Amino acid sequence: VLIRRERAQDAVRIRAVVAAAFAGRGPLDRLPMEVTLVESLRADPGWLPQLSLVAIDPRDDFIDDDFGYGEGDGETSSADDDGDPRRAPVRRTHDDDMVVGYVACSRAYVDGHPGLGLGPLAVRPERQRQGVGQALMHAVLGMADGVGESFVGLLGSPSYYRRFGFRPSIELGIEAPDPSWGASFQIRPLGAFRPITGVFSFATPFTSLPMA
Ligand SMILES: CC(C)(COP(=O)(O)OP(=O)(O)OC[C@H]1O[C@@H](n2cnc3c(N)ncnc32)[C@H](O)[C@@H]1OP(=O)(O)O)[C@@H](O)C(=O)NCCC(=O)NCCS
Repeated sequence: VLIRRERAQDAVRIRAVVAAAFAGRGPLDRLPMEVTLVESLRADPGWLPQLSLVAIDPRDDFIDDDFGYGEGDGETSSADDDGDPRRAPVRRTHDDDMVVGYVACSRAYVDGHPGLGLGPLAVRPERQRQGVGQALMHAVLGMADGVGESFVGLLGSPSYYRRFGFRPSIELGIEAPDPSWGASFQIRPLGAFRPITGVFSFATPFTSLPMA
């Protein structure tokens, strides 16, 4: 895969990737909350467009057969047998890369010290366990370090994130936004990190989610 910054025309495909990756975790008739999170983050002052990355499939012949998660874009889709453009395969066009994974970081703080909150990270289900998540994580952490950020916090499985240098936040003296998150709330110190203490706070859209 290739990793690059999100572009405006990726938004519908990012939505589809996030919806598919997180499908089945909540009520079946509801869009996963992470879809709403991405859209709220884009409108938030804490949004950092330079750290919103997509993984794209560089193959020219890639056909996306579940594009849109119920929403056609009206430009590249064409009706299939049942006449519903939402179920038609979508062929990639020049300006229309196939997004297979997504990661975003937004502004977060610990006691007034700026850092990053990571999330969501999502990979299309049929492309999981092929290194896409790893590629996105290495890219976003490298970029964050390169622009002088000092730490990244996230809520996730320690067994997955340990390989990227994340540690339970409490080992670094940083408290989770919710103490019940325990070791699942993790911090990755970057080059500019200096010891700090206090409670981590994500950008506002995270706080309206039932993440614990
Ligand atoms: C988690 C996710 C982003 C990983 O992306 P991916 O492209 O499948 O991951 P990679 O191919 O880079 O790495 C795969 C490895 O991660 C492990 N892994 C994947 N999800 C994991 C999880 N939730 N907990 C622990 N390990 C996990 C796999 O076991 C695999 O390890 P192995 O190679 O030793 O078998 C992806 O599975 C996904 O989108 N899941 C649904 C959404 C989600 O849970 N996002 C993260 C929320 S914090």
